[in-house]
Amino acid sequence: MGPNGIKHLYTAEQIQTRIRELAREIERDFQGSDLVVVGVLKGAFVFMADLVRALNIPTRCDFLRVQSYDRDRSTGVVRMEFDLTQPITDTDVLLVEDIVDSGRTLRYLLKHLQSKRPRRVRVASLLYKELNPELRPLIDYLGFTVPNVYVIGYGLDSQGRHRGLPFIGYPKS
Ligand code: IMP
Repeated sequence: MGPNGIKHLYTAEQIQTRIRELAREIERDFQGSDLVVVGVLKGAFVFMADLVRALNIPTRCDFLRVQSYDRDRSTGVVRMEFDLTQPITDTDVLLVEDIVDSGRTLRYLLKHLQSKRPRRVRVASLLYKELNPELRPLIDYLGFTVPNVYVIGYGLDSQGRHRGLPFIGYPKS
């Protein structure tokens, strides 16, 4: 149990070890490619920062922002708040997500990115909730599986808070 009644799921060290493993896989798959790494704001910014620094291949970074959660609950409607700043036609894209929960955001974003005619799109997600096993095949590079609880830390928030925690956990109820 950590401070403030937060139960730890993955420590900062475990996260960094896993990111180095994912980086080796990604490097192997994108050798010689002009890779654009696309982070989904806000939640993916911490994971993406560590992931691109662990990659020993050249990358370009871009971001987009979608909104579907209100007060820690999914509204069921995904809305694009802002889009990529550069074209990705005929380009390799690595979409970086913090967590795949209902999968609505990921499905929406995959469709959106495919409409821009990239060469290929692969997905890296730090977390995935095991409640939805049908979504697992959509994730090419997965950090960790988490139980069906609302998780916070390492970029993930609860009503805007806790993104800066270096570990992943959940509030003890
Ligand atoms: P989905 O569309 O339900 O898969 O969820 C997409 C987004 O909701 C994620 O990218 C997160 O930003 C947010 N989200 C979903 N579950 C959690 C959670 O347990 N903690 C923090 N954010 C979450």
